Amino acid sequence: MCGIVGYAGSKEVNAILIDGLKKLEYRGYDSAGIALQHDGKLLISKAAGSVADLEKTLTGQENAVTVGIGHTRWATHGRPTDENAHPHSSCCEEIAIVHNGIIENHSALRQWLTEEAGHTFRSETDTEVLAHLIEDYYDGDLLEAMRKAVSRAEGSYALVAISSREPGRLVCARQDSPLIVGLGDGENLIASDIPALLAHTRSTKVLEDGEFASISADGVEIFDADGKPVDKEILEITWDIEAAEKGGYDHFMLKEIMEQPAAVRETLRQRIDSVNGKVTLSELGFTAEELNRLEKIHIIACGTAYHAGLLGKAVIEKIANVSVEADVASEFRYRDPLLLENQIAIVISQSGETADTLAALRLARQKGLKVLAITNVVGSSVSREADEVLYTWAGPEIAVASTKAYLTQLVSLYLVALYLGEARGSIDAETSAGLISGLKSLPAHLKTILSEDSVVKLRDYCDHLSKWDSAFFVGRNLDYPVAMEGALKLKEISYIHAEAYAAGELKHGPLALIVEGIPVIALVTQKAVFDKTLSNIQEVNARGGAVFAITQEGFEEVARQVESVFYLPAIDDLLAPVLSAVPTQLIAYYAALARNSSVDKPRNLAKSVTVE
Ligand code: AGP
Repeated sequence: MCGIVGYAGSKEVNAILIDGLKKLEYRGYDSAGIALQHDGKLLISKAAGSVADLEKTLTGQENAVTVGIGHTRWATHGRPTDENAHPHSSCCEEIAIVHNGIIENHSALRQWLTEEAGHTFRSETDTEVLAHLIEDYYDGDLLEAMRKAVSRAEGSYALVAISSREPGRLVCARQDSPLIVGLGDGENLIASDIPALLAHTRSTKVLEDGEFASISADGVEIFDADGKPVDKEILEITWDIEAAEKGGYDHFMLKEIMEQPAAVRETLRQRIDSVNGKVTLSELGFTAEELNRLEKIHIIACGTAYHAGLLGKAVIEKIANVSVEADVASEFRYRDPLLLENQIAIVISQSGETADTLAALRLARQKGLKVLAITNVVGSSVSREADEVLYTWAGPEIAVASTKAYLTQLVSLYLVALYLGEARGSIDAETSAGLISGLKSLPAHLKTILSEDSVVKLRDYCDHLSKWDSAFFVGRNLDYPVAMEGALKLKEISYIHAEAYAAGELKHGPLALIVEGIPVIALVTQKAVFDKTLSNIQEVNARGGAVFAITQEGFEEVARQVESVFYLPAIDDLLAPVLSAVPTQLIAYYAALARNSSVDKPRNLAKSVTVE
């Protein structure tokens, strides 16, 4: 989610780090910092804002220094402030670290470090515990201290450290967050992403989970988790800088679609108690009494986030037994909604800056409702103004068409539903355990859906779809909001006019539009309405429509009724929308590609809609 760069060589490191951080700003851009080895001390500069803001704080002292580390942050724990920016240093400031990832047991470690080991903290971040832990184990060998420190950390990390007592050396560790060594001539680098390396070298070694590295100007040593040296092949990078920013994909949208298994894993991380297996949303400050006397929830959002809200409505009503209304924010704010006691509002916004959503949030608060925000951006307006915040932790989403943010919004809403259901006693232990294990299986199922074979199948289908100027998405029950989101995605980037209909509504009008060969994408994942949806598909077939069905393994009957079918791994019907959204995203992507549209920046649209 954030960007890391480190350098050991003979050139001025200052400029190299700043340039590397600028190349990584697409990974996170709410604060930045550097730490340099300078005359037996560490020079640390950090600033909230962009890398350009950091540059303004540099005094010139940093020139002529040749070893250092830098970081550009996308906040998860702690607001985007100067104090929370990386690098973080130990108490005596002889060690500085930069970190990507999340330390799940940071609260317990922080408590131990302050109460038992006498450390003093300066930031609100999870990362800072690692600086103090390393210091606690440090007796002159930074790599050894890092090894001991990370053995106590649970979670994910790409971690790079320097010490004022070991000039010329950077040490690193990787677990579930990428780190790549760049091999130069008389210089070596480390970075979280390839764009930061390309100005210096194309020869790289990629660290694997559990590996450590020690880097100096003259050499790179890599060790496995047991401390044994690892001999790694050199990987030559052939991408240009633009392709490297997109992780080698042609578009940010495809990169973000492919990141969904990891994004969902991050959203779930730490929110399921490893001991009792229950959902634990420790960040929410609702009292048990507030949750028990809840009579209604208003979910408010725009566009894709609204579609997540529609699914949230269905799921919360089912699991938490409380009535939910879902509104488009631009309607909610002007329809004079009935906002009463014992109600709360949930606003959903990837950017946290959408003008209509923010206005709806203010209206709900003005009328006395407590507001929970589900957002992807720490420090955004929505997060600052809401009473409670649940971050989606999808990482920066750059493509205008929302994909990974949407999936993590859905997963967050399932977590809220289970949390409410538990608090209100409306879900039994067995059902809850089944759904939680289903949630945990999502990343693996998403990986299956994103495998090459599946993608090729969808791509082939899009050759047909892209020739049409009109398409339909249909579904019943939980499949209907997925159909709405699929249609929005297709319109947004391929400019094909797409409409979503509740499948049962077709005969009330839209059937008149079905002509020979017209593409109809049918979502068929809900057992409760399976036969009904099949009947609706036959209504389309009878008029010559070409149905492409997205269904679950085990629903083989569907294949006999349609032209082509895409199978999702079998999953609880309630969780199926998280999986079925993905083929619709890929359909939109490949249709847009076939029509040569501007995928990442569709015409007339902006990523963040800050005007009414
Ligand atoms: C989705 O693909 C859109 N670009 C759009 O509908 C978006 O979801 C909407 O503008 C809401 O944005 P937000 O989540 O940042 O509030």
